[in-house]
Amino acid sequence: MERVLTVHHWTDRLFSFTCTRDTSFRFGAGQFAMIGLVVEGKPLVRAYSMVSPPWEEHLEFLSIKVQHGPLTSRLQHIRPGDGVLIGKKATGTLVNENLLPGGVLWLFATGTGLAPFMSLIREPETYDRFDRIVLVHTVRQVAELAYRELISKDLPEHELLGEMVAGKLTYLPSVTREPFGTTERITTMIESGSLTGRFGLPPLSPERDRAMLCGSEAMNADVRALLEARGFVEGSNSNPGSYVVEKAFVTK
Ligand code: A2P
Repeated sequence: MERVLTVHHWTDRLFSFTCTRDTSFRFGAGQFAMIGLVVEGKPLVRAYSMVSPPWEEHLEFLSIKVQHGPLTSRLQHIRPGDGVLIGKKATGTLVNENLLPGGVLWLFATGTGLAPFMSLIREPETYDRFDRIVLVHTVRQVAELAYRELISKDLPEHELLGEMVAGKLTYLPSVTREPFGTTERITTMIESGSLTGRFGLPPLSPERDRAMLCGSEAMNADVRALLEARGFVEGSNSNPGSYVVEKAFVTK
C-alpha cells in the first residue's frame, strides 16, 4: 500500500494524483501497472500508465472520473494521506526498445492516453534514440489538455532535461469541440498531410518515422489503419517495429 501525496482535479471528468513509490518498484518509461483501492476488503485494480518518469521519487497517474465506474467513482475522492494499491509489476508495449531506430518519433494521444507519453518525454533515453519527438494530444475541450503548462513551459526550462527538450520536443495540442488553434483529429491531420506539412516534414514514412499510439479503441484502430496503409509495421516486446499501440485503459 502506498500513500497519496497530492491530488489535482483538471476538470469534472479528469484528475491526477501522486503517491509514494516503493524503492523496489522498477519500470520503464511508457509502461503501466495495476493501480487501485481496497473495496469491501478486496483489491479493485485497473491498468494505469505511469505519468512520472522512472527517475522520479514518487509516482504519478492520470485518470478519468466516471460517476458509476467501479474504481474511478471511488478513486476520484482520494486525498493526501489515503492508501492506494500499486501493483509490483510494470509492463506494456509503449517503450522505446519496441521501436526500430528512426528519425522522428510521433506520440499520438487522445484523452488520458497522454499518460505514458508524459513519462517518455521526461526519459533522457527517448532523446538519445530520436532526432525529433512530436507529441500530439487531442481532447474535446481545452481544459482537458492536462499538463499543458508542464510540457510547453516547465519542461523546456528544466534544469537537467531542458536543453534536450527544447531542441527536440514539439508539442501539438488539438481540441475538437471548442475553438482552439488546432481543432482537427489526429486522423484528419494524417490523412490531409497537415500533420507533417505544418512542420515542413515529408509525409509519414516507415523508413524515417516511428509512432506510438495511446487512446480510445476507435482512435487506435483508425490511426493504426492509416499507418499500416503507409507501410508501418507494429512492434512488440520481442520484435521491434515502426509503430506500437496501447489502449488508454481505464474507462470506468
Ligand atoms: P471528436 O471530438 O471529434 O470525437 P473521447 O473523449 O471520445 O475518447 O475523444 C477524445 C478525443 O479523441 C476527441 O478530441 C475526439 O474527437 C478524438 N477522437 C475520438 N475518436 C477518434 C478517432 N476514431 N480517431 C481520431 N480521433 C478520435
